[in-house]
Amino acid sequence: MCGIIGIASNKPVSMNIINSLKKLEYRGYDSAGLATLDNDEISEKKCSGRVEELEKILFKSPSNGHLGIGHVRWATHGVPNILNAHPHSSEIVSVVHNGIIENSDELKKKLESKGLKFKSQTDTEVITLLITEALKDNKPLESVFNTLKQLKGSFALGIIFKNYKNIIIGARRGSPLAVGYSNIENYLGSDSYALKSMTNKISYLDDGDLCVLSKDKVEFYDVKKKKINKKVHILSDDKNTSDKGDYKNFMSKEIFEQSITAKNCINEYTDSLKKDINIYNFPIKPEKINKIILIGCGTAYHSCLVAKYWFEELTTIDVEIDIASEFRYRKLKFNSNNLYVFVSQSGETADTAAALDICKKNKVKTCSVVNSVESTIARSSDWVLPIHAGPEIGVASTKAFLGQMLVLYILCLKLAQIRKDISNSSYQTNIKNLKTLPEAIKKSLKVENSIQAMAKEFLDAKGSMFLGRGLSFPIALEGALKLKELSYLHAEGYPAGEMKHGPLALIEEGLPVIVLAPKDKYFEKTLSNMQEVIARGGKILFITDHKKELINENIRFGIRVPSLDNLLSPILLTIPVQLLAYHVALLKGCDIDKPRNLAKSVTVE
Ligand code: AGP
Repeated sequence: MCGIIGIASNKPVSMNIINSLKKLEYRGYDSAGLATLDNDEISEKKCSGRVEELEKILFKSPSNGHLGIGHVRWATHGVPNILNAHPHSSEIVSVVHNGIIENSDELKKKLESKGLKFKSQTDTEVITLLITEALKDNKPLESVFNTLKQLKGSFALGIIFKNYKNIIIGARRGSPLAVGYSNIENYLGSDSYALKSMTNKISYLDDGDLCVLSKDKVEFYDVKKKKINKKVHILSDDKNTSDKGDYKNFMSKEIFEQSITAKNCINEYTDSLKKDINIYNFPIKPEKINKIILIGCGTAYHSCLVAKYWFEELTTIDVEIDIASEFRYRKLKFNSNNLYVFVSQSGETADTAAALDICKKNKVKTCSVVNSVESTIARSSDWVLPIHAGPEIGVASTKAFLGQMLVLYILCLKLAQIRKDISNSSYQTNIKNLKTLPEAIKKSLKVENSIQAMAKEFLDAKGSMFLGRGLSFPIALEGALKLKELSYLHAEGYPAGEMKHGPLALIEEGLPVIVLAPKDKYFEKTLSNMQEVIARGGKILFITDHKKELINENIRFGIRVPSLDNLLSPILLTIPVQLLAYHVALLKGCDIDKPRNLAKSVTVE
């Protein structure tokens, strides 16, 4: 998704803007640009494609400005090209924008009727021209406020002015924006990660806030133009985790560090001495919780689906799950005894944040399961359960999915114990099993060689299917999602028992079908469903934790992961499906960390 940077300094800023844009690359983008104030003029440099291109342009034609804004664009309005790349500048104003201006067509018509001309197809250019017009009679702050009043939709903005050489104005509605401080300069950024190499002191703008920053001071205003103060957060130092080390890409690093991710997370939430789970301060008394509603998008939603099975199995609490982009528009009945749980790696996903907002407006209790504890979603919820996975840079979520499942499982166990839905001995056994998980994950990762061989089967495939039942069904969905986003190959995830109700028609000679069949109560049933696929020519790739002999003439490949408690099987089955997507994408030469058209944190609707 688009990313914004702004720097006000007493030295040239363009190279630091470039370095910060590189940090924002993980969000996914298709063009990049920056604008600085050089010799009292706005100087724009843009490219379609990667930030390295922009860097080359700067090497050829350096910019010495001490104040500037930069942007990576993920196209919404208008194709990805140089003309549509940000910043969008008039002679006196330059703007970078993350978000969508929903009434841009209407505003554009108004501006055109006054004789103003547009250079791009973007919604952002209306902001540039509205501010330019307002500056005829107003100072910058007033001009920006006047402009914001006319905008519908969501935005985070960075704005510089030819005639006001020392200031950058930032504004936020819907899309995240942070301010960073140092002794010699101040910064604006879409997230703290982009600013981390320059400062660890950060403030976050709330919706409706505006800031004016110069090299030695930052002022904040609320939506009513009242000056406000902002809390300064000191960021933790996790430099090592955002370096890909010897790995080819961040995704492979993130897949392979999952045993450590699991260990960290389990250690954070369990007390070895007391053999207990450290979860306290529930926003609703656990015994009083009537229903849990789990909400997320994409992979985070899949972790909610896994958790639904766990909550149903271990607790007496009713569980519902929802996709945030649906939840936010439904006519819902809120209940103060329900706990609404929002799951998000980034904590910035616009749909999830909007769904959380609706809950807050309806005065119900919210919990967030997030990786980024400094995020909007974490800051807005009543209760935060961090997944402790460390920064996840690959656009395809892997270790965060594992962390989300783990935290939801741990929460489920704790609730089951407090509510006496499970016996104390069963609680203890489950904690003990949990502790064996990191080692089992390490062993699961050893299937990589077999997966590499299996990946070749996908090179000429027209599509593929992932099948599972019970706790393996969400992993079938996740496997299909990973394969689609990384290798651009069509994949469907299905409950194996649903095949005969339609999707079986898709099976033809040689179609790869990944069957997830742990040794649980569904095992025999899944085998029967697999037979239906075999009978129609499907090529079976079988993943199980069953000790039984796997290979027979009907199974092309068999992968075995360690066998633990059945409840933990989805976590172990996840590893081979992640590796499969990774290796298919690698063989197809796809961009592993930055799949086409996708963004790491989806901050627009
Ligand atoms: C995962 O591989 C995807 N890139 C995507 O589905 C992601 O999980 C989704 O956009 C939600 O993101 P979040 O966890 O940051 O809210």
